[in-house]
Amino acid sequence: ETVEWDPEQAGKGEYDHFMHKEIHEQPTALAQAIEGRIDHGSGRIALEDFEPGTFEGIESVQLVACGTSYHAALYGSLALNAAGIRATALLANEYSVSAPPVDDDTLVIAVSQSGETADTLNALRQARASGARTLTLTNVVGSTAAREADDALFIRAGPEIGVAATKTFSSQAVMLLLLAQRLADDVRGEPHADLDSLLPELAAMPDRIDAILEASTADRVARRYADSESYFFIGRGLGFPVALEGALKFKEITYEHAEGFASGELKHGPLALVTPETPVFAIFTGEEDEKTLKNAEEAQTRGAPVVAVCPEDHRAVAVADDHLRIPETDADLAGLLANVQLQLLSYHAADLLDRPIDKPRNLAKSVTVE
Ligand code: G6P
Repeated sequence: ETVEWDPEQAGKGEYDHFMHKEIHEQPTALAQAIEGRIDHGSGRIALEDFEPGTFEGIESVQLVACGTSYHAALYGSLALNAAGIRATALLANEYSVSAPPVDDDTLVIAVSQSGETADTLNALRQARASGARTLTLTNVVGSTAAREADDALFIRAGPEIGVAATKTFSSQAVMLLLLAQRLADDVRGEPHADLDSLLPELAAMPDRIDAILEASTADRVARRYADSESYFFIGRGLGFPVALEGALKFKEITYEHAEGFASGELKHGPLALVTPETPVFAIFTGEEDEKTLKNAEEAQTRGAPVVAVCPEDHRAVAVADDHLRIPETDADLAGLLANVQLQLLSYHAADLLDRPIDKPRNLAKSVTVE
């Protein structure tokens, strides 16, 4: 007698989909990303082969990436700017026609889960040819991008099978936060001012994500808004890349129309689309939250239900129609907690629609053509 054994099902363990499993792997992935990389004694960031002072002389940073990795790159560029390092995130597929000037004081960081995305490899090669210093941030040791850049840094998230990137986004963003501190230390001789509060909060991220995974009401919220026409996501500061990522995830796996906006942009056009059939998911990160709340209320006045993604005792909870709760943390990290709730929201919305969550139509895990 033979026992039926489906290797794919076995890989998913107790979960119905790899995506759901990978969302739940984020506490472990983040613990692996930061392990050994924070020297709590000196308060310094220790990045493997990079001796202190490695990045001395770097004047500016360009991050190149596609898709979800681009959203992590945008997150990283904001963290770098906040740490006093001039940084821009650029879509790798636009780089050949719109690259800002580079020289040997420019660090170009290719952000790519797979390290094989053709657009990102092209941008990386162009940057190298123009004389920039290059670094790849990837999940895959031995990938083309890791081999071709001057240096490589690994996010250590473990294999990601679901086409929609989840845990690797969180790990990329956290690594870029660490890198921002490290660059500030090397280039300006001083780490980011808030390092004392950031490091313990970083170390607490796995527990905070566990708390979300245990108590999330994203399945109920997904059901409540299942018949909507469009789904809008707004955030400001570090909440903006999270709004973009929330919308990308939602459209990738549900096939429903979703858009992410900077909160303040809502009134400059998108508001024309807002109706009672367009729920607005508002991400609060602690960065000018009163303004985001005002933007959300403008949508609410036009009949749109507002779902606040924020801590329990936040002022937005009383105003919003629904609430996706995140634990209190540093403003640098709140967006990453909000993102976990939005991943769960997309997952449950897609599950209700019975979509092929791990392999959405027309999409590939790694796009190796231009
Ligand atoms: C594809 C995937 C996306 C991914 C993007 C970049 O389009 O479907 O989920 O974000 O490639 O992939 P990379 O491996 O470079 O991060």
